[in-house]
Amino acid sequence: MEIFVVPTASATGSVAAGILAAVIRSKPDAVLGLATGGSPLPIYAALAGHTVDMSRVSGFALDEYVGLPAGHPESYAEVVRREVTERLQLDPAKVAVPDGSAADPERAAADYDAAIRAAGGIDVQILGIGHNGHLAFNEPGSALDSRTRVEVLTERTRAANARYFSTAEEVPLRCITQGLGTIMEARHLLLVVNGVDKAGILAAALNGPVTADCPASVLQRHPHVTVVADEAAASQLAPGSGRVAVRVAGARAGV
Ligand code: PGA
Repeated sequence: MEIFVVPTASATGSVAAGILAAVIRSKPDAVLGLATGGSPLPIYAALAGHTVDMSRVSGFALDEYVGLPAGHPESYAEVVRREVTERLQLDPAKVAVPDGSAADPERAAADYDAAIRAAGGIDVQILGIGHNGHLAFNEPGSALDSRTRVEVLTERTRAANARYFSTAEEVPLRCITQGLGTIMEARHLLLVVNGVDKAGILAAALNGPVTADCPASVLQRHPHVTVVADEAAASQLAPGSGRVAVRVAGARAGV
């Protein structure tokens, strides 16, 4: 596992965008796994500043709410369109988001899992971590080998996401999320974390036991994980967490 520790949240975006740009240059038809939420936004902003040909890049979002009307501004389909597809000039036809308004969401989830496989799998999966250790919307208790499916959001996750809605009640109760097993099949996992409020859970995920109680702990079992964290989020990591130390400008690597 490589861990880059950088001074600010915006620097997490620069470092992660540099990693993605290098992947796309070496594989112009790379398949990206796209995350929403606050943590990845600096990545997309920074990647937009790179001169890299995105015309053959495709993407799969990690998750989507179930039950928001199509076109709802906080549906992840819309967030991905605004924050990723338009900014990076990705071909919208090449970017998939689970269908949260499908008549049969379980079926839509299974089809989505199959579509990722049919596309040859994900080259780099961008990830954030929730305060409860969730990865995508795999809440605590999710099987470590789970597939893309319908999940019920915890109250903690609904409360964290209420900031995007006018009232807390508007946050949907359910979602379609890539499963932990699905995520683990991506060839490279790129976790971005910022803020002191994530320090405890990041340390639990990377230094604690691998357990469904902390879904992000499954990252410890993946052969190619890069963590990019700001100083605040990295502040509780055990010394020696980063087994591979790599230096980049402005970053202290290998905690
Ligand atoms: P955040 O969400 O980046 O908005 O903090 C991360 C997550 O809940 O996975």
